[in-house]
Parts: sequence; structure tokens; C-alpha cells
Amino acid sequence: MMSGFDGTNAPFESAVLDALATAVVFLDGGRRVRYANPAAENLFKFSQRSVLGLALQEVFADPSVLNSAVDYASTHNSSHSQLDLVLTTAGRERLDVGCTVSPVELMGQAGFLMEFNELQYQLKLAREERQIDQTEASRVLLRNLAHEIKNPLGGLRGAAQLLERELERPDLTEYTQVIMKEADRLQALMDRLLSPHRPPQLRTLNVHEALERVRSLVLAEYPEGIRLRRDYDVSAPDIVADHEQIIQALLNIGRNAAQALEGRGEITLRTRVVRQVTLARRLHRLGLMVQIIDNGPGITAEWQEKIFRPLVSRKQGGTGLGLTLAQTFINQHHGIIELQSEPGRTCFTILLPLPGDAGGVPDARRSAS
Ligand SMILES: Nc1ncnc2c1ncn2[C@@H]1O[C@H](COP(=O)(O)OP(=O)(O)OP(=O)(O)O)[C@@H](O)[C@H]1O
Ligand SMILES: [Mg+2]
Repeated sequence: MMSGFDGTNAPFESAVLDALATAVVFLDGGRRVRYANPAAENLFKFSQRSVLGLALQEVFADPSVLNSAVDYASTHNSSHSQLDLVLTTAGRERLDVGCTVSPVELMGQAGFLMEFNELQYQLKLAREERQIDQTEASRVLLRNLAHEIKNPLGGLRGAAQLLERELERPDLTEYTQVIMKEADRLQALMDRLLSPHRPPQLRTLNVHEALERVRSLVLAEYPEGIRLRRDYDVSAPDIVADHEQIIQALLNIGRNAAQALEGRGEITLRTRVVRQVTLARRLHRLGLMVQIIDNGPGITAEWQEKIFRPLVSRKQGGTGLGLTLAQTFINQHHGIIELQSEPGRTCFTILLPLPGDAGGVPDARRSAS
């Protein structure tokens, strides 16, 4: 795989570069590609083998700015960063990236190391980080609040019950019944708020079995009008997870999709195994991607920011806890939920780490910031 290198550190160096989430390409002194890591293969949609030995103009359609960055690094013998580059490769349309070129000796050869960051990707990381912090903050606030409300609520209900027994006019029980019914509703809400705090019970879980459960529950609720399409990656391995939490998270998202469709439309349940994913500040070699996609009205950009917050609902009778809980459960499994939406296509993507890579490699860029 690492053809073209000699020198004793080469295997170690290439193993480190292979594991990076940052796309890295190494040019030799003659400015030909000597190495491209898996993140670069992913970003530019080429294979290392197809670009080995090629000059920049043979890889990219518009390499002039990139070439000048290499010129600069070469003449000044120092790193040079170009923050907003537009690059086009055969496999991809147009890519907005930042690039840092450094003159280095790597794997026994002098050359240039080029590190690429997709600009959108950087923004996305910042947003994810903010979302995780926000979820944690509201989780603590809600938990304390729920505890405070639960105790007096029990007293309130008990008192109404006692009062009812003492009532001499039976028509007055209508009022005590209202008190008890509303207290029960509030109690159920508080229980939902407190539920994510039991310790997770980890067992192996086949994600397709979980999705089938979701599928049959949604179909039971909407027997007509909603089509549930399966697009499963059968090679997806089992995950180790709390069954109830994962199913609850998937069900909350699936049920939202069905509700958004108002009884008519299509939901796609998709799974894929993905490589090199950064989740909750860690880089994982392998991840499991689950997508729940509906062809409903979509969610405006303004609301996309808000709907993960607790008690934000736009539905009659909605508590606005479905997505908050889904997010808490997925975060507890070191995963994340992403959302993309436009009219006619709303896609919730759940990314979970897959076992087998020892908890992942810390992501250098994140831990540095
Ligand atoms: N697939 C979707 N399409 C359109 N809007 C959606 C979709 N999923 C969620 N939403 C919006 O996000 C809001 C928040 O969802 P969330 O599941 O947190 O609460 P809810 O469904 O309103 O109430 P609950 O799930 O607690 O019964 C919803 O009220 C809805 O407006
Ligand atoms: Mg919901």
C-alpha cells in the first residue's frame, strides 16, 4: 500500500498518517504524489493508487493556487497556509478547502506535506461541539427541575384524593378528578425527563432488528398511506448498546417523520458502515450510520437550530422531548445526530462508533483547540 517509500520509520509514519481525520497528501521533491491518506481519498474521491506518481495538475483541474502555496513553502522553507481554496478533481464537483503546505522530510524523502480541511467540515465540527455542550447543560437543568416538581406533585395528588373522599356533593368530584388527571399528566412528563438517567444496560444489538421494531411500530400507528422503505447495509456489524435507548431514539425520530408526513408519504430507513468518522471529539476508524429520511415538508433553517432543545414542539399535544431524548441517548453511546432538511427531504443521520477500534484515536485538531 505504501509504495514508493523507504527508511526505517516509514511504517510508523504511514500508520499515523493513515489514522488522521485530516486529509493529507505528500509530494516528493519533484512535486509528484507519493502518498495520500484515507481521509484524502474520502475527501477527493480518488484512490491513492490512482494518483501515485502524478503531478498536481494531473490530479486537480485547477491547481495554480495550490502550486503557488508549494512554491512559497519551498522558497521560504516554511509552512504556508491557504485558507480558501477551490479544488476540482475528477470524482468531485467542487470542493472548498483550506490547505497548509509544509516542507518536510517524511518516510525517508524530502518533499511537501499538504494538509486539507474541508471548510464546511470545520464549521460542522464547531456546531456539533456546541450541540453536545448545550444538550449536557439542558440535561442537568431539566433533571433538577423535574426532581423539584415531582415531590410537591405527589403531595398535590394525594391531597386531592383525600379531599375527594370527604366530598359530600358527588358533582364536585369532577374538580378533584381534573386535579388528579393533570397531576398524572405532569407526573408522566417528569418521568420522561428523568428516564435517561438510569445507567445504560449494554448488550449486543443488531441495528436492523432495532429498525424493524421501529418500522412495525410506525406501521401499526399509520397502517395506510405511509410507505417504509428499507435500504440496509447487510454487512453492518452489531453494536454494543442499550437496546431500549437506541430503539427509543430511532422511534422518536421515525415517529416525527411519520407525523410530519401527516399520514401520507415515504420514510426510508438506511444503514451504512462509514470510515474515518469523528464523533464526540474522537476519530473512529469505523462508524455505523443510520439515516431516517422522509419526503415531508421539511424544517426551516431557523427551526433546525431549535428543535433539539427540550420542550420545543410545533405540534398539538407534543411535549418537545422526543429529539432531546434521542440526542441524549445517542450522545450517551458516544454518537451524534445530524440533520439536513429541505422541503421534500428531511434526513436525520445517526452516527455511532463501531467496536473494534479500541475506543478511537483522539482527534488532534479538536483536543488542541
Ligand atoms: N421529520 C420532521 N419533519 C418536520 N418537522 C420535524 C421532523 N422531526 C421533527 N420535527 C419538528 O421538530 C419538533 C420537535 O420534535 P420533538 O420530537 O423533539 O418533539 P415533538 O415531536 O413535538 O413532541 P414529542 O416527541 O415529545 O411528542 C416537532 O414538533 C416538529 O415540528
Ligand atoms: Mg417527537
